[in-house]
Amino acid sequence: MARFIDELKRTHDNNALRAANVGEEVVLFGWVASYRDHGGCVFVDLRDREGTTQLVFDPDLAGFAEAPKEAYQRSQQLRSEWVIGVRGVVRSRGGNVNAKLPTGEVEVHVVELGVFNKSETPPFEIVDKLDTGEEKRLQYRYLDLRRKPLQHTLRARHRLLQETRRYFDDKGFLELETPSLVKYTPGGARNFLVPSRLHASKFYALAESPQLFKQLFMVAGFERYFQIARCWRDEDLRLDRQPEFTQIDVEMSFVNQDDIFRTVEGLVFRLWKSVLGVDLLEKYPSGEFPRMNFAESMGHYGNDKPDLRFTMPHVELTDLVIDHNGGGVPFWAELAGHFTSGRYRRDLPTEIVKAIRVPAAQATSLSRAELDKLEEYVKGMGSKGLARAKVGPGGEWLQSPLAKTITAELRGAINDACKVQEGDLLFFQFGKEAVVHTVMANLRVHLAKKFGFIPESGHGGRFEFLWVVNPPLFEYDEDTKSWAAAHHAFTRPHDDSVELLEKDPGKVLCWRYDLVLNGFEVGGGSIRLHDPDVQAKVFRALGISDEEAQTKFGFLLEALRYGAPPHGGIALGLDRLAMLLSGAESLRDVIAYPKTQKGICLMTEAPNTVAPKQLQELHVRSVE
Ligand code: AMO
Repeated sequence: MARFIDELKRTHDNNALRAANVGEEVVLFGWVASYRDHGGCVFVDLRDREGTTQLVFDPDLAGFAEAPKEAYQRSQQLRSEWVIGVRGVVRSRGGNVNAKLPTGEVEVHVVELGVFNKSETPPFEIVDKLDTGEEKRLQYRYLDLRRKPLQHTLRARHRLLQETRRYFDDKGFLELETPSLVKYTPGGARNFLVPSRLHASKFYALAESPQLFKQLFMVAGFERYFQIARCWRDEDLRLDRQPEFTQIDVEMSFVNQDDIFRTVEGLVFRLWKSVLGVDLLEKYPSGEFPRMNFAESMGHYGNDKPDLRFTMPHVELTDLVIDHNGGGVPFWAELAGHFTSGRYRRDLPTEIVKAIRVPAAQATSLSRAELDKLEEYVKGMGSKGLARAKVGPGGEWLQSPLAKTITAELRGAINDACKVQEGDLLFFQFGKEAVVHTVMANLRVHLAKKFGFIPESGHGGRFEFLWVVNPPLFEYDEDTKSWAAAHHAFTRPHDDSVELLEKDPGKVLCWRYDLVLNGFEVGGGSIRLHDPDVQAKVFRALGISDEEAQTKFGFLLEALRYGAPPHGGIALGLDRLAMLLSGAESLRDVIAYPKTQKGICLMTEAPNTVAPKQLQELHVRSVE
């Protein structure tokens, strides 16, 4: 029978001992975080998931019945990351208190040592701050996870999960599970496909979300559903996107948008309070997050997930430019001409003009070289360049290619629209709407980081939540020159928009909403289309025939015919919440075993090849 574990049970974790424990005999387990041989005594910092305790191996330990000579001798062989157990006595550190450690008032003088396992020298040190490259850390993820910052984030994630379950249970929601192997349905994100062995040439899709199944739960009468659901999407990856991620998925019957918002706000307030100790009621005393119309968000921020920790909004200048027939600026005159000749329609995406005003205080900090770098930055996003103007005395424009030809009237009108003061700098973008929005949205955030309005990463102690509401139901597809569903095809249009479905699809607004935090979309959902008549109209507007609808969404359409209650829902990105709440830089920091930007698990080397026989069984042929 082993002495440690079988006979000697752990009495404390490594964050537990305080001055009050002095004199007690204790048994501790853990990893050797560091060891120091001080001629005659060996000091070891013993680490476990709770913290660190200093051990002393002193061969001449006074005042104790046993002479710990053997423990002392064996302690000289200890190395980093060995796993050990010790029995010893708690002593005060007297004047040598380590104020940085919660256990810093005491040390454990070891009487008996057991080595559970040795360790090879780890490829990097297990310390809080580390500059080892991420690739190496991902390759040895289990060692990286041993470090305090990651232990800390994964604990926060655990708390998020537990609080979420408690919250929904308290509110009468049922946690119901849905399948991962599902039927491929078109639209939405690209699916991972799984070949079927039993059915040659047939494929399952890995669920990109439980969407259709949660709606079917409503048809089944469960009324309030939630699930902490794993989802898979074969998308290009970014800092805030992983191919495999987790949603807090919610669906409710007999509700409107406000009811969904109350439910989510309640959850977020509770999570922030219990996980972070932040009372969001101080910032949002009504208990509600502010709302912004989608159109305003696009206009002022260029996307539907504005970071509201700073202002610097975009100013839309297209109408001014049209009113002034381009005001002497050749490209703008051409653009205005397209509108007056009817070639461009205001109700379709065309070309636009936008500006950002950089206040004088920040403008002076931008050197010539930095302005050139900014120009390179926007070109990298598909822009042709970054026109600018420095505002001089009397509103004159300096250092600007536009200044030569622009009329005093248009310049004055733009100065007014941008509310400029002397010394300010204006940046302009004009061209295709989508490019201008994206470039200006990214430029706004880029500048804010440069000027220190927001930190490079992390929340900086500020949490700006926002609901972005009332987006259009359709978006114009320039390739096919037709309207397509902007979200999934079962989003309910506003009642007063229904009559526009066929007449003016671009103007139809819908009950779709996104929850935004510090410039990240943390959740999205909608009130669903449960009424077959309106749904038929939406499909007609989308040019989807009955047969096509049947093949694409047959089982959902059928289910909606058997008494579907009005319903709606939302899904919050749990990984994104964990990232933003903990101030982590990327989703990889809050997911235990993440994939790289290229979708690879560096530790297990997935994805990988398989044997030809396996492919044969799956009726799949690999093409080099
Ligand atoms: P949506 O596609 O907006 O909605 O996803 C909901 C939330 O999930 C998170 N998310 C991701 N997080 C990490 N990596 C990804 N690749 C990723 N993709 C999405 C985001 C996003 O806001 N079925 C609908 C919800 C509904 O309508 O109820 C859905 O999945 O935070």
